[in-house]
Amino acid sequence: MRTRTLGITAVAALLTFSLAACGQEAKGGSRYKPDDGKGGTIGLAMPTKSSERWIADGKNMAEQFKKAGYETDLQYGDDKVENQVAQIENMITKGHRLLVVAAINGSALTDVLKRAHDAGIPVISYDRLILGTENVDYYASFDNERVGRLQGQYLVDKLKLGEPEKGAGDPRSIELFAGDPDDNNTKYFWNGAMKVLKPYFDSGQLVVRSKQTRINQATTLKWDGGTAQKRMDDLISKSYGDKRVDAVLSPYDGISIGIISALKSAGYGTGSEPLPVITGQDAELASVKSIIRGEQTQTVFKDTRKLAAQTVKMGDAVLTGKKVQVNNTTDYHNGEKTVPAFLLKPVSVDKSNTKLLVDEGYFTAGQLK
Ligand code: GAL
Repeated sequence: MRTRTLGITAVAALLTFSLAACGQEAKGGSRYKPDDGKGGTIGLAMPTKSSERWIADGKNMAEQFKKAGYETDLQYGDDKVENQVAQIENMITKGHRLLVVAAINGSALTDVLKRAHDAGIPVISYDRLILGTENVDYYASFDNERVGRLQGQYLVDKLKLGEPEKGAGDPRSIELFAGDPDDNNTKYFWNGAMKVLKPYFDSGQLVVRSKQTRINQATTLKWDGGTAQKRMDDLISKSYGDKRVDAVLSPYDGISIGIISALKSAGYGTGSEPLPVITGQDAELASVKSIIRGEQTQTVFKDTRKLAAQTVKMGDAVLTGKKVQVNNTTDYHNGEKTVPAFLLKPVSVDKSNTKLLVDEGYFTAGQLK
């Protein structure tokens, strides 16, 4: 296996070299023919190790691609675009067969993916859609809009808002957080949540006291919890005074943790002043424990093992010339093309169903103690 892999890589590198030497470019279509079958190396370009989920995503894919008969080259970009571009360039130079990329900045990969295309290397966009390029072949993710709808609906149910047509009793207050402005998922999460919440803003049942209701006022650079904490500190001190925050829309567990810290510093979370309803996403261990303790209220579980399995299936099909299974060919236009996608289903988790995470083997019962 190893000899064969090295053989393929060496031939590929040689071919790249000789094409470059002749001043020609391979015009698309992998230099591997479908009947080359298994083997070779898959480049896995992940964004950051600062969040548990991406560590799990990388590990799961590396394991599963290996089981499927491929070597892997797993790289993390430390949330810096230039690192990720350099890592992908390196993967192209090494002659990897397929690139799986979770973009740090969805719009910053146009040039490097043109190089991948010219070298005949197919690309799967992982979790986050890569924008502004034709050179992305497939997209594997969760239904991102549904993530936002699950968060929005959770808030509506938990606040017992009732039918918007019947109008407000006492309005409930909410503050809104969005994800990283460079991540294409951010707007899907936001739009999904807003679809559910808008009727309640319109009826006056929900009020954003800070008046920061636009996505560009609510984004959180690099999904950073500390940044969210500072913004929440600020919102509480400027807009709440003696008033209470009843709910916070948070798109991601790391952000929720920052928000909860700010709220606790302002005196929430004590007997007389309970914490607001706070959403999240990713079912990260610290947040699931926080939910069990009664601090964060909800998260959205996206099983990274299943996303890895789906991506490996798609990648293997691409490389062995089989039909690639997709379930969405309409919704993910990246500015240049509609990228055929396979979307998995996210699941809402709160205190009442954290057991699901143990039943599914995502965490052990011991980890959640
Ligand atoms: C998004 C991803 C979320 C969350 C966030 C921060 O792109 O879809 O699940 O992980 O990044 O890492």
